[in-house]
Amino acid sequence: MIPTPDLSHLTEQDKLHVYDPAEDTFLFLDALEQDAEDLKGEKPLICLEIGSGSGCVSAFIGSILGSTNTLYLCTDINNRASDCTHRTGRHNKIPLDPITCDLARPLLKRLQRSVDIILFNPPYVPTESEEVLSAQLGRGISGSWAGGTNGMEVTNRFLETVEALLSERGKFYLVTLDGNDVPEIRERMFRAFRLQCQIVAQRRAGIENLHILQFSRVNR
Ligand SMILES: C[S@@+](CC[C@H](N)C(=O)[O-])C[C@H]1O[C@@H](n2cnc3c(N)ncnc32)[C@H](O)[C@@H]1O
Repeated sequence: MIPTPDLSHLTEQDKLHVYDPAEDTFLFLDALEQDAEDLKGEKPLICLEIGSGSGCVSAFIGSILGSTNTLYLCTDINNRASDCTHRTGRHNKIPLDPITCDLARPLLKRLQRSVDIILFNPPYVPTESEEVLSAQLGRGISGSWAGGTNGMEVTNRFLETVEALLSERGKFYLVTLDGNDVPEIRERMFRAFRLQCQIVAQRRAGIENLHILQFSRVNR
């Protein structure tokens, strides 16, 4: 059992503005723990989390990998999330490097085919498109869930870039729910980028059925 990162340093103010780890986060941790031996065996050099929020997921993978030279990059559009991620890293003795930006935009050219682990628990809740637009512009807590059509408007933008970032042996983990149309995502990623997909964890949370998808190159 790898312990859940200690988040006791986060304040009520932080929780008002930054996504508080919930069922989806914990399912994500379970899936990563399940893959712990494989992940360690790959000796990853760069781990990139998109939308790191509190920093819980990156701190967790840091404790799975133990003391290594891995670079932990974490992006979020919400400035306060970057601050929480930094403090969570420090509090748990994992060197997390947060960057406040949209998805992986400033890293795309510099990290081509070099990221060994990519993690994304995106805003996946289906909403009106106007809602996702204002949530993305507002860069606050509603950016944590507002996902627009099929809950996929933010995720789809990232899916277009993920293959260019993944290293040869890279793995990309994505949180989804039924409403996101998982079969369509799998088929599209295979057809467009030759990325194969496995569902590595699944759990019902209230009315939602959550999954963790893991993508890797076909010709590994
Ligand atoms: C569901 S929360 C997940 C937070 C954390 N990773 C977890 O699992 O608890 C989604 C996160 O994505 C961030 N986010 C939303 N749109 C983003 C974008 N365009 N670029 C980067 N981060 C984004 C939100 O601010 C939020 O922190």
